[in-house]
Amino acid sequence: MNSRNYLARKLSASKWLGLLLICAATFSRAQTTNSEATNSVSTTPPPVPVLQIQADNVKAHVSPTLYGLMTEEINFSYEGGIYGELIRNRTFKANPTNAVYWNTVGNGSISLDTNQPLNDALNVSLKLDATQATKDSPAGIANGGYWGIPVKDSNWTTSTGWDRQPIAAYHASFYAKAANGFDGTLTVAIQSNDGKTVFASAEVSGLTGDWKKYEVALTPKSSPSSKDNVFKITTTSPGTIWFQQVSLFPPTFNNRANGNRPDLMQLLADMNPKFLRLPGGNYLEGDYINERFDWKKTIGDISQRPGHRSPWADQSPNYWSTDGFGLLEYLEWCEDLHMEPLLAVYAGYSLKRDYIKPGDDLQPYVQDALDEIEYVTGDATTKWGAQRAKDGHPAPFPLHYVEVGNEDWFDRSGSYDGRFTQFFNAIKAKYPNLQIIATTKVKSSTPDLIDEHYYESQEQMEAQSQMYDNRPRTGPKVFVGEWATRVGSPTPNMAGALGDAAWMCNMERNSDLVLLESYAPLFVNVSDLKRGGSMQWPSDLIGYDALTSYGSPSYYAQKMFSTHHGDEILATSSQDIPTYTWQPPARRGGQAAAPRQIPSLFYDATRDSASGTIVLKIVNRLGTPQPMKIEISGTASVDASGEAIVLKSDSPNDTNSIKDPVKVVPVTEKVDGLGTSFTRDFPPYSITILELKTK
Ligand code: AHR
Repeated sequence: MNSRNYLARKLSASKWLGLLLICAATFSRAQTTNSEATNSVSTTPPPVPVLQIQADNVKAHVSPTLYGLMTEEINFSYEGGIYGELIRNRTFKANPTNAVYWNTVGNGSISLDTNQPLNDALNVSLKLDATQATKDSPAGIANGGYWGIPVKDSNWTTSTGWDRQPIAAYHASFYAKAANGFDGTLTVAIQSNDGKTVFASAEVSGLTGDWKKYEVALTPKSSPSSKDNVFKITTTSPGTIWFQQVSLFPPTFNNRANGNRPDLMQLLADMNPKFLRLPGGNYLEGDYINERFDWKKTIGDISQRPGHRSPWADQSPNYWSTDGFGLLEYLEWCEDLHMEPLLAVYAGYSLKRDYIKPGDDLQPYVQDALDEIEYVTGDATTKWGAQRAKDGHPAPFPLHYVEVGNEDWFDRSGSYDGRFTQFFNAIKAKYPNLQIIATTKVKSSTPDLIDEHYYESQEQMEAQSQMYDNRPRTGPKVFVGEWATRVGSPTPNMAGALGDAAWMCNMERNSDLVLLESYAPLFVNVSDLKRGGSMQWPSDLIGYDALTSYGSPSYYAQKMFSTHHGDEILATSSQDIPTYTWQPPARRGGQAAAPRQIPSLFYDATRDSASGTIVLKIVNRLGTPQPMKIEISGTASVDASGEAIVLKSDSPNDTNSIKDPVKVVPVTEKVDGLGTSFTRDFPPYSITILELKTK
């Protein structure tokens, strides 16, 4: 099945699940009474909507882990994204017949050579025939990175304004050996594509007939920021040289070796996420069993990691993971951002319907999952805890949630029930305190949570914005592990952010049930948006190229929600909420669906029990200012002045981009006229957070 068919199936599956759940949840009367269609012609002005907040009625508590991140290798999220590595196809395994993304410099020639492997994992090398090299005509190899190699000047700035420094020094490394007779030096350099500017260079000598690792620092001279640059290794001496694992790292977040890109890490840190769902998504499963995220092959010395083909390679040829970004790198990412891993374990099903029946055949995979949990949480007296210590991290990581598989509703074999229960029983027996997440309904055991996915239009998100209000609290809790309002590409626009905010009000208001949520996908490299390029999935939270990055309006909506909420969910009710008419798409089989009335204003109210501050969120999806009367009962008083954080735009199509990274960003303003009863205009196309100080 190609990825387009896969996508179509995925979307319809999530839509059907959504529709079923909407039918199950009758709209709360309190929230929709006396609604009025804004598109109907009326001579009398519509009544002002009223929102009541009962400050003495705490319905439930906000899950302290509600807001998290979902991640996987898609859209060049790791290699070409958050992983600091700048060299594309550094191990020459992305294509078995061609040294893709590598070029010859000067009078040389390059080829893949399986007769000179570095080791069993990196079982091919790049052979440079430089026998014609001379002082005037050097020969060598060149790599243009992931759509560029960044050089940054001293006025460098990003959308976060954080990563302002020029790159102090790059760390270049590679394994090399030479045929008998080569006694020359290698010049390692970063140059402009036109060859006119050499930003940094260093010399390496002493190559022998045995593989050896060479490392140099490349300190660039100050120059204007650019990404149209290339990394080169050249020689002026004749000879034959083999290379493997050719690597170039800029400084990384927290200066971790083999670490992460600082600007992207900072954008994430600013969201204050509580967990990271890893390692996927489809990326966990792979197209075939032998292309799954096989975690044991992603740890230890990076030169011993064989790498694997990406499930997104159907859409983007040569999409390959070196697995330099492996399990420990995910865990250290969590540690750096003070969030917990939410570990998804491979559950015996791969995307192209390659699966293992429950029973004895599945047992090695169950054991793999138990070993993986031990690698994350075990102390140094355990086999896999000791391995983690050996890999450089003696301290165990915290872990509370384990997910078994991904989107197993695709598994038409009916094997998930048995597969899940086999994993569930084994994990619970050894780790009774872990919360186990199923990816779809099962009968033979009771999961602690179910992972629900929603990729929807703005209207659909708004239509289902009361989905959880009436969901019975008797079944498993909910993890909304992937969701997005899919409006705007490569990153969502303001319409997407509005749909997201309506949906987040729903999740936050019901976060006694919805314990965890994570938007997906998180990242997209926006360098090459044509088919086969850097994007496999439009509508992603954060965009970037080799040089810079930005958050979409959806990113800012997500950040506003995750960094502004209380711990108590207050009871709310409303009247006269305006609605609009939505014509849902035809049902399966072409049958027309009935038009529906959908609210145009969305809200929820939480309170910080320590300070007494009520955090009120109001979303106005209309192109006109919306007055709303707010009545707060159950508290003696509310300060007249407070603070509002507002994300708004002139048009729902407004968006952020590499060229215009901060067109739509939240603004914090002081507000007056607040109290236990006040009326306020909420701007067109806006998400407002009002912080109300109570006494
Ligand atoms: O987020 C993109 C993809 O959507 C994920 O890999 C998969 O789990 C879902 O179908």
